[in-house]
Amino acid sequence: MKPLVALVNGPNLGRLGKRQPEIYGSQSWDAIFAGLVAAFPELDLEAFQSNHEGALIDFLEAMADRGVYGVVINPGALTHQSYALRDALAALQRPVIEVHLSNIYAREPFRAHSVVAPVAVGQISGLGPLGYRLALQALLDRWRREAGHGGTPGAG
Ligand code: DQA
Repeated sequence: MKPLVALVNGPNLGRLGKRQPEIYGSQSWDAIFAGLVAAFPELDLEAFQSNHEGALIDFLEAMADRGVYGVVINPGALTHQSYALRDALAALQRPVIEVHLSNIYAREPFRAHSVVAPVAVGQISGLGPLGYRLALQALLDRWRREAGHGGTPGAG
């Protein structure tokens, strides 16, 4: 069976392609997601976006009950302030990779701190939509290693 991997986007990320394209790029999430599905036939990908913290947590809880293998999450501004989202990610006890389209360390000072990062296995920041792809590759490698199918040592 393919490992179930959740791709989660937080507040304001439903408008990718339209929202400040000079910062977040011109591709819509639908276009990005279609590319990810095509690139990772080995994974059972499920995407979810919400502007609401509680809805994101409800989704993560539902994914836990469904046996999710791992999570790739761009928490948007919740990155910098949501202990509730962080707790939900920690409670999963599954590998989490944090992704940011922009380089959060090169912007306003409040963006340079992530409360989510300590419960993630890794973080990718500043590489645009490629970040999602690299995160999925890291999770796939990890799953293969755990399943005894090899993979890139040290990744994810
Ligand atoms: C973001 C960075 C956050 O600081 C911001 O609030 C976002 C998007 C990114 O992908 O670069 O909404 O997570």
